[in-house]
Amino acid sequence: MLAGKHILLIIGGGIAAFKSLDLIRRLRERGAVVTPVLTRAGEEFVTPLSVSALAGRKVHRDLFDLDDEAEMGHIQLSRVADLVVVAPATADLMAKMAGGLANDLASTLLLATDTPVMIVPAMNVRMWEHAATQRNLETLRGDGIAIVGPNKGDMACGEHGPGRMSEPMEIVEAVEAALSDGPLKGRRILVTSGPTHEPIDPVRYIANRSSGAQGTALARALTALGAHVVFVTGPADVAPPEGVEVVAVQTAQQMQEAVAAALPVDAAVFAAAVADWRVTSASDRKLKKTKDGLPALEFAENPDILHGVSHLKENRPPLVVGFAAETNDVIENATAKRLRKGCDWIVANDVSPATGIMGGSENAVTLISDAGAEEWPRMGKDAVAQKLAARIADAIS
Ligand code: CTP
Repeated sequence: MLAGKHILLIIGGGIAAFKSLDLIRRLRERGAVVTPVLTRAGEEFVTPLSVSALAGRKVHRDLFDLDDEAEMGHIQLSRVADLVVVAPATADLMAKMAGGLANDLASTLLLATDTPVMIVPAMNVRMWEHAATQRNLETLRGDGIAIVGPNKGDMACGEHGPGRMSEPMEIVEAVEAALSDGPLKGRRILVTSGPTHEPIDPVRYIANRSSGAQGTALARALTALGAHVVFVTGPADVAPPEGVEVVAVQTAQQMQEAVAAALPVDAAVFAAAVADWRVTSASDRKLKKTKDGLPALEFAENPDILHGVSHLKENRPPLVVGFAAETNDVIENATAKRLRKGCDWIVANDVSPATGIMGGSENAVTLISDAGAEEWPRMGKDAVAQKLAARIADAIS
């Protein structure tokens, strides 16, 4: 909920500006006060009247507005908010922000503000992929600006790819996460998620049926409680939640490196289904059928990331949580796995095909800790995530 939160919404000039009208509604439905700022270019796409009607407040448009200066100066306007959201953030606005320009109301507010800023980029795919935009993006990220999206898909200009503005509800989710006063505020939590892909050759790989749904739901639930989540994810079916720091990897070795780089953290949750083996004989050319018989694949064991982190001498997170995917003797196997891995808790689940859990929307888990095994009833993966996030918050806050 956003009751009492004040959002300064800067609407840039892009076709996606129409979604910002819905965004205003959604933010207000949740109790937020929205002060809109419309750039000159933004006015070409949505009218000041519709923006102010939806916001229920005056829309600010001019840098040199005598009324505004008498009522509230632009410096003040930039500081009364709890969060400044730029949606859509055009390539031009991003460039101005990265360069520190202040030649209109929006860019001046962005330079003068001392409140957190979130941008929601939207532009043509070529503009997004251009080296200049990517450079600006990195600069803005380095300046501590939160970035939401963009999504991939068909674009109004007829092209396809990344550049579509995130949907209003995705933005609301990110805003809620950014403004959360939950019990995990100020805590940094690592979550691994999804499968890993271990290449055989450039077109083939070894994988598993993990969809990434449980890890994603957990990252979302922890974020909703105010945590800063570093989300190290393999190639999952589901998109990462908004408001987390995403580190995308393919292989177990890459996941191990990303996990090491994310430390120190206050808690680490290993929900990824890491491939146990990689192909050491992976070819950089596509393997061909030959008359000489089948290809001989050689395997090596992948690093056990959970085991490694649980046994760190330095920087061991105060709470390390593993998952145990079992198909038989679930509690017995998972209890032994907790001791073998050296983690504090194990979330055990039965992934035998009859349960429909792997790749499904529900989960039936048993939480195993020092205190013993606690069986939770079968429930949606979101509900498991919320319950687990609440337990983590109790344990570390
Ligand atoms: N895990 C990991 N690195 C690996 C393998 C597993 O970090 N190379 C983590 C998983 O993220 C999970 C836990 O270890 O939290 C258990 O994973 P699971 O696949 O159930 O266990 P395995 O180690 O593969 O054990 P086994 O093969 O005996 O089932």
